[in-house]
Amino acid sequence: MIVPRSCLRIRTLFTALCLASLFIWSLSRWRSESPTSLPQWGPASSPNAPPDLTDAHQKFWWTFHRYLEKYAPGTTPIVEYEKAPTERFNPDDTRARPNYLSVDEEDMAAIKTAHMGFVAAITGEDSAPTLPYIPGTTGIVSTAGGVYLPVLVISLRMLRRTNSTLPMEVFLADEEEYEEYICDVVLPSLNARCIVLSRILAAAPTTIEKYQFKPFAMLFSSFEEILFLDADAFPLAKPETLFRADPVRSAGLVTWPDFWGSTVSPLFYEIIGKSAPPLALRQSTESGEVLVSKKTHARTLLLATYYNYWGPSHYWPLLSQGAAGEGDKETFIAAATAMQQPFYQVSEPIVALGHRKDKGGGFAGSAMAQFNPIEDYALVQGGNSRVRGDDAPQPDVFFIHANFPKFNPATVFDNHEVNPAFTDEGEYTRAWTIPEEVVGKFSQKEDLEKAFWKEVKWTACELEEKFVTWQGYSGICDRVSDYWRNIFEWKPLPT
Ligand SMILES: *[C@@H]1O[C@H](CO)[C@@H](O)[C@H](O)[C@H]1NC(C)=O
Repeated sequence: MIVPRSCLRIRTLFTALCLASLFIWSLSRWRSESPTSLPQWGPASSPNAPPDLTDAHQKFWWTFHRYLEKYAPGTTPIVEYEKAPTERFNPDDTRARPNYLSVDEEDMAAIKTAHMGFVAAITGEDSAPTLPYIPGTTGIVSTAGGVYLPVLVISLRMLRRTNSTLPMEVFLADEEEYEEYICDVVLPSLNARCIVLSRILAAAPTTIEKYQFKPFAMLFSSFEEILFLDADAFPLAKPETLFRADPVRSAGLVTWPDFWGSTVSPLFYEIIGKSAPPLALRQSTESGEVLVSKKTHARTLLLATYYNYWGPSHYWPLLSQGAAGEGDKETFIAAATAMQQPFYQVSEPIVALGHRKDKGGGFAGSAMAQFNPIEDYALVQGGNSRVRGDDAPQPDVFFIHANFPKFNPATVFDNHEVNPAFTDEGEYTRAWTIPEEVVGKFSQKEDLEKAFWKEVKWTACELEEKFVTWQGYSGICDRVSDYWRNIFEWKPLPT
């Protein structure tokens, strides 16, 4: 957001007056710039909220960055000479937790000491940094930028279809990723706003790579209670309901499962001084969706950020040992375990959505379904474990994570490893037809895939000239429209 220069100078006396005029000013700006073709959700920030939290953020970051650096693991990076195999979760796995890493005793001691020092700093009465957020707020956080921005807009429109009014904060890496029309017009019209991470991080310059952004976006979000969604993930129902019920109420941190078994190294548990849970206890984590309360889980989030800051060199190898998807995925539960804070991971297994390939019974999987945590929690509390074969009704699909390939209208029809819109013969096809029992259930009330492509088409056609990364393309709207007509409007000729 561009702040009137006069506001920047005023320190104390006129702050309130300045905020009020800033609000009125941004409201008028919002009114004058919003095109009528966009649905209106009101300005992104409420009148009571400070329009910009950057001062508090920068202060927090200045302190917290010192701790991240002061308690560096202090050894050479851990090298994955051998990688853990990526294997499906097996609820009957009784093996001892395998270790594939070699870290000598001296290095283990150094990593352990640094970890203890960091934990002491973030929990100490005088040293614990205060997370900047607005008490009592709930919202959605995502990261986007560049080629992810069109995908984010599609997901955001899918979110609004559920009638959810939760505000969204979209974190961009730097000024270069700030696309004015999208950030100043399109996102505000959908009750979302862009936040530029580099503006906050400037208080203590550092190198954080894009794939490390997730916990930082959560830390710097203005919301107390957060649903983090990857740019390519969207809910099928209002996420508001999740915050008012268990497991969010009782656990304060909720994650969803990946296809795979846990490959956390036993060395990690040695570092945090806790006994390793059995492999059969739960799946690894797919972190495209995370629910967390910053009020109850501030220290978990701070430690998860430490695990990502020192992720590439130490904690990602310790937490995944090179298995598929190594990255931030395991850091949230790992941090809660180390901090002895509660968490709940949905037990209903993730399901791959796709279409059948013509030959050889193949499967073109382009999305993943994650299930309703309230229903899952109720089943588990009632002693039912579907993942271990108990006969109980499957919870409803709550999120679809359309991740492979990205459904970016400019590139989704290109040739990919998986082609959601084409058969092997190059004919148009629907993307999500199997597994029938899952697709059939979430399509009972309406054709969800059609609703999704409607938003793909809207984004392609209404914003064709708008995204910076689409400047070298032509015919984006035409191609999506052609697919749309063939798949969703085609009627058989009368015979
Ligand atoms: C959203 O609200 C509108 C208007 O009240 C209603 O017609 C529609 O059914 C609602 N949609 C959902 C998914 O609840």
